[in-house]
Amino acid sequence: MEIPADLGRVLVIIPTYNERDNLERVAGRVREAVPAADVLVVDDASPDGTGEVADALAGEDEQIKVLHRKGKDGLGPAYIAGFRWAAEHGYDVMVEMDADGSHQPEELPRLLAALEDADLVIGARWVPGGKVRNWPKRREALSRGANTYARLMLGIPLHDATAGYRAFRAATLAKIGLEEVDSRGYCFQIDLALRALRQGLRVVEVPITFVEREHGTSKMSRDVMAEAALRITQWGMSDRVGKLRPPR
Ligand code: GDD
Ligand code: MN
Repeated sequence: MEIPADLGRVLVIIPTYNERDNLERVAGRVREAVPAADVLVVDDASPDGTGEVADALAGEDEQIKVLHRKGKDGLGPAYIAGFRWAAEHGYDVMVEMDADGSHQPEELPRLLAALEDADLVIGARWVPGGKVRNWPKRREALSRGANTYARLMLGIPLHDATAGYRAFRAATLAKIGLEEVDSRGYCFQIDLALRALRQGLRVVEVPITFVEREHGTSKMSRDVMAEAALRITQWGMSDRVGKLRPPR
């Protein structure tokens, strides 16, 4: 299965922070699974030398590009920088993918096929057919809990709003208005999904199999969790207050 031709030029954006032992493998799998797509690594000056690995890969393959950033600044700002770069370079589709192999590049053609009838496609775990492999029960409970809370609090029809394997049309990102997005951690994903839904865009979930990393460590932290909990609550409350106010 290749990229549907009418989707145009596809860029797979891979944010990295200390992913030295994962990057080469995932980039190679993307190039193999979807040869027409280009790859952009967005590295936040990883102390483990991931940025140098990315430069070496880019030196060997002109379809691999690298954006170096000054220091660790969170997943949201890394993706926004990547989306800007993609728009400036004329890409039509921007894909989000983790560097650690959790998002299998071999499933990307299925996400792209779904984008033919959607504005945003989310590779989802918590839908029929979706799976997680090797995830600790604790992490599964956290993710399911966060998603249930987001679904109820925000009144959105999604089952995996925090998922980080996605395909956006360039037009979708343009409509979302990235200038106003200031979510830093993984709630960035919920933020973008919510904005797309509020714009009346078509957001579709397709089942994926999420595979826990074998090398390196997760960047999930207390701060990331606290930001998500706070923001979901704020977004949900302001929405309710908005509905209570009489229309002007
Ligand atoms: N450039 C940059 N800067 N990259 C980052 C940063 C950052 O501050 N923080 C994390 N990353 C990169 C990691 O290097 C990895 O490639 C990807 O973002 C995901 O980070 P992980 O640390 O592997 O996330 P996870 O496995 O705990 O979380 C997964 O589930 C979350 C909740 O559902 C991911 O799929 C997340 O995207 C998802 O939101
Ligand atoms: Mn991971």
